[in-house]
Amino acid sequence: MIFVKSEEEISLMREPCAIVRDCLAFVGERISAGMTTKEVDTLVYDFIKASGAEPSCLGYYGYPASACVSVNEVVVHGIPSDRVLEEGDIVSVDLCAYKNGFHGDGARTFRIGKVSPEKDKLVRVTEECFFKGIEGLKAGTPLYDIGYRVQRHAEENGFSVIRSYTGHGIGREMHEDPSVPNVGRKGTGVRLPANAVICVEPMIAAGGWRVKVADDGWTAVMLDKRPAAHYENTVVIRENGVEILTL
Ligand code: MF3
Ligand code: CO
Repeated sequence: MIFVKSEEEISLMREPCAIVRDCLAFVGERISAGMTTKEVDTLVYDFIKASGAEPSCLGYYGYPASACVSVNEVVVHGIPSDRVLEEGDIVSVDLCAYKNGFHGDGARTFRIGKVSPEKDKLVRVTEECFFKGIEGLKAGTPLYDIGYRVQRHAEENGFSVIRSYTGHGIGREMHEDPSVPNVGRKGTGVRLPANAVICVEPMIAAGGWRVKVADDGWTAVMLDKRPAAHYENTVVIRENGVEILTL
């Protein structure tokens, strides 16, 4: 069941979403070679707390950190550790903030110094996939049009789309209906109602789309060890388009 939010609820969501947006920008200005992924997580924890919000991920099904920090062949849910970031890495930082009774969710993939042409293109195309995915999106759009558009753009660029993780509805819970796949057939799926709030989050791989979850139960690693990228925003479906709350 897709929850439709009232204007008042959407207003309450603006704050956690703005904190996510600002936290991602804050991290983007600081992330650099020599930092550990745990240090990135500490930046996120401190920022969210200082904003009067709670990091939604911390303790979520036992998740041990405030952010997912996923390096190179890790596509999502990288657990912050003592791993040191190096020039040439691409690092996705995914985080959620909870405030006013609602969650906000967003992710960016950052380049550490100069990266290979392939990684550079992958990060760019993954961002583009988000914007392609929401192109023309408005009340009444069939849900799987989003995945159709994401998949077409990724594959046109020689990349593949991760199937085993999807976007999702968001609100009082971090994950609500519907599931928002990044692949799909045009014109299919439920028609999105006005004032639904969803996270659109393409996860795109340079190689094949198959993923393996590490023994820690979280870290999602590309089976072929090729790099992958992730980009996410929380968006409101409106009568005439979308409103992006985390940009
Ligand atoms: N932010 C992630 C998402 O996009 C959720 C990861 S939080 C974790 O859905 F606790 F599951 F790691
Ligand atoms: Co999400």
